[in-house]
Amino acid sequence: MTDPAPVDPAKDAAARAAVALVENGMKLGLGTGSTAKIFVDRLAERVHAEGLDLRLASTSKATADQARALGLVVEELDDLGWMDLTIDGADEVDPDLNLIKGGGAAHLREKIVATASDRMVVVADQGKVVDCLGAFKLPVEVIPFGWASTRTHIERVLTELNMPGRPVVRREKDGQPVITDEQNYILDLDLGEIHDAPALARALNAIAGVVEHGLFLNICQLAIIGRPDGSVVEL
Ligand code: 5RP
Repeated sequence: MTDPAPVDPAKDAAARAAVALVENGMKLGLGTGSTAKIFVDRLAERVHAEGLDLRLASTSKATADQARALGLVVEELDDLGWMDLTIDGADEVDPDLNLIKGGGAAHLREKIVATASDRMVVVADQGKVVDCLGAFKLPVEVIPFGWASTRTHIERVLTELNMPGRPVVRREKDGQPVITDEQNYILDLDLGEIHDAPALARALNAIAGVVEHGLFLNICQLAIIGRPDGSVVEL
């Protein structure tokens, strides 16, 4: 039997600090990605040790499967209504707590759950903290029908905003497009620094085939940033 992969100490530190924010009786949103996965592991440990009574909704099938395998009950978001808290990872966090998400192709459900919550807290390692969003390619989830036309619209928007970056379809190793939990495609936009994120968000939202982009603006209230030495800082 092979040993389990070692846990990244920075991500683990952020996850542990976030688990401490969870209170008995909460309705809690579970994020997606490697840091959120560690959070769910640590949450399950606490739930089983303390007998916490939580109601959980997930931002992806992958996280729901993980949580259920750990003995947690995951419900539909619509059965829970408004959530108290969502804990999720991020690909980039800026000083104003604006984010890029979607590296795991889950940003659509992640945004729905986060914006249905009183509070969104990000857990991330130090490498995710940036002065200006955009070094990470911005994921945009699009409907497969007419996706090439949607890409043309996105290119026109980028030209109007004087931004570089041709949208590229995210693909699996076998060359097939990545399919999201909602059966859509992801276009990744290599933009460099995004100086007017609200303008870009508005323009992308106005394109018919765009379902959701990975800019999370004014959604996150706290970021817990883990360091390799196991300490955390809060933004
Ligand atoms: C998935 C996400 C993830 O939260 C983001 O990609 C961060 O993942 P990780 O913790 O593995 O770096 O947005 O869509």
